[in-house]
Amino acid sequence: MKKILAALISPKSESEFFKNYESNTPFIVHGLQDSIQELTALPFLKSLSDLLNSWPHQVEVHLPKIADEASAVQASTEDAKKMFENGMGLLFNDANNISPVLSRWLEALRLDMGLSALTYGRNLIYATKAGKGTAPHFDQNMNFVIQVHGTKKWWIAPNKNVDNPMTRFTMGLSMDVELESYATAPMPTQMPADTSEFTLEAGSMLFVPRGSWHSTQAVTDALALNFTFSAPTWIDIFTTVLRARLSHSSEWRQTADFVSDSKRCHEAIDKFNMLITELSYEAPDWCAEQFLDVTEPR
Ligand SMILES: [Fe+2]
Repeated sequence: MKKILAALISPKSESEFFKNYESNTPFIVHGLQDSIQELTALPFLKSLSDLLNSWPHQVEVHLPKIADEASAVQASTEDAKKMFENGMGLLFNDANNISPVLSRWLEALRLDMGLSALTYGRNLIYATKAGKGTAPHFDQNMNFVIQVHGTKKWWIAPNKNVDNPMTRFTMGLSMDVELESYATAPMPTQMPADTSEFTLEAGSMLFVPRGSWHSTQAVTDALALNFTFSAPTWIDIFTTVLRARLSHSSEWRQTADFVSDSKRCHEAIDKFNMLITELSYEAPDWCAEQFLDVTEPR
């Protein structure tokens, strides 16, 4: 039974959720109480002060120039408190590492979602000052956002510029080279016309699909708990297993010598072609189960 997913989407059904999930459509519920009581009862989630007082690490502070993770510094909790009062957003990263409850929910939610064991899951806690928010961007990860305190508006739009992005991108900043190579349309400079608005109150849960454009603004001082999953693509599954397999070959483990030496690169090409040809003999016998047996041990 998918208990944790059910707790986050109550009273809606799994089938409703997965219909949205599979079509990259946001999903929202309001008024969660009993089903997430174990989360809202966590002492460090009682208030921002409680969080700052109990947080054992530095806090990521989003600088005001571009309100985004791309422009951030690390600060002590004392400095972060002052910076928050001055309107800067705070991010408490990997909160699952300080909480067995979060860590258990995170793993159970991954399994409820059917995501790979290679998934990088984490809890992020965002504190946002009234009137502030994040600049329009998309993430390569998927996000379950639980509003714990305050009210925050979200604007989300489908991404028609690039399907299934593997890195995040903030409007107005530069794109990484790989993302640029597979983006199918130039990036916009403002949220697209087909943007939907969502208002999150304490007890709301918003699922933000991977890659969708979004921006936010807090209506009041706001605290949100995110379950964030960077799940592997087929590329990741394939290359991870292939790498593991090739690592058993001393020939594949050889240094790729002379590849940039104009006089000796023919030796490199011959050697590499031999390895590729050998591998290609095995390729027809590959099947998905062999790969998944490695990444998803039962
Ligand atoms: Fe985001």
